[in-house]
Amino acid sequence: MTLVSPANPEALNAAATALKSGRLVAFPTETVYGLGADATQELAVARIFAAKNRPRFNPLIIHVLDLATAEQLVTFTPLARRLAQEFWPGPLTLVLPRTTTCPVSLLAGAGLDSLAIRIPAHPIARALLKVSGCPLAAPSANRSGRVSPTTADHVAGEEFGPDVAMILDGGPCQVGIESTVLDLTTSPTLLRPGGISLEDLVAKIGEIQIATEDPAAPRSPGMMERHYAPSRPLRLNAHEALHGEVLLGFGPTAPPTAVLNLSVSGNIVEAASNLFAMIRCLDRSDICGIAIMPIPTTGLGQAINDRLRRAALGATLNDNLQ
Ligand code: TXA
Ligand code: MG
Repeated sequence: MTLVSPANPEALNAAATALKSGRLVAFPTETVYGLGADATQELAVARIFAAKNRPRFNPLIIHVLDLATAEQLVTFTPLARRLAQEFWPGPLTLVLPRTTTCPVSLLAGAGLDSLAIRIPAHPIARALLKVSGCPLAAPSANRSGRVSPTTADHVAGEEFGPDVAMILDGGPCQVGIESTVLDLTTSPTLLRPGGISLEDLVAKIGEIQIATEDPAAPRSPGMMERHYAPSRPLRLNAHEALHGEVLLGFGPTAPPTAVLNLSVSGNIVEAASNLFAMIRCLDRSDICGIAIMPIPTTGLGQAINDRLRRAALGATLNDNLQ
């Protein structure tokens, strides 16, 4: 049973220490309770996906204390700044391009060039950000497929494993639904309705498109998966590299020809934490393709295989388009 604690200074210090050591902390925000990790640590972020049992690597929201910190992670436009001034701190998430020096884990952004970011208003979320001194990746603190928790008891009922060090209790969440997600990487597009109404956003910045599920619409979730594809073809369940390929290994049985290994010990959470960084590293123009050893489908392996299948498909699509 995970420790539930009132957010007194000792508990906040303990939570910050746990976060710095790569563990997870559930904490209240004004919208719903979040399951937080130090967003700069790939392994800590992989633990979020493992704890939630997510079958896919959806990009996570990065929580920061102030605009100055946000500006280190993503590039603001004048429009983004206007929205930030009006609605932050509060339940609005902005999707913006990552800066070239952005220290946030690639897995937290699911390998995308953009990042979803928000400044929460809840005093306990803010205190945790301040004491820990790191950006926090935090999806809602529920297992995949279940409703978002709005009390500490809801979070405790999820029975997360030992990676979750503690649950900070801040009573019931005021807003009770997740933040509104607005994509500003091109013309403003509503990706998820939430705590700030569309009307309020339109009143501030004018026209906003609504993301659709239409596969022809460039920013629908289905199309986003194109971004996950490397430029070189991926070959899955490979045991050796064919001519011109490089081999990405997994586990202790990887041959010495494997250029990199997702996890030498065969640890699936470690493999997830290395996935995007290693594929990016191997995706060079002087190779014909990337061969990847089989990854078990247990635990996070499901999400890893899902991502690899999409990436393999995307690479083929890109090839066909060239
Ligand atoms: O209220 C909230 O936003 C809560 C609390 C804890 O802050 N957090 C939350 O996070 O709901 P999460 O990870 O469950 O929601 C992330 C949403 C998803 O709909 C995801 O698709 C979208 O944000 N998202 C994140 N990064 C994105 C990106 N780079 N591009 C497009 N959508 C993104
Ligand atoms: Mg959620």
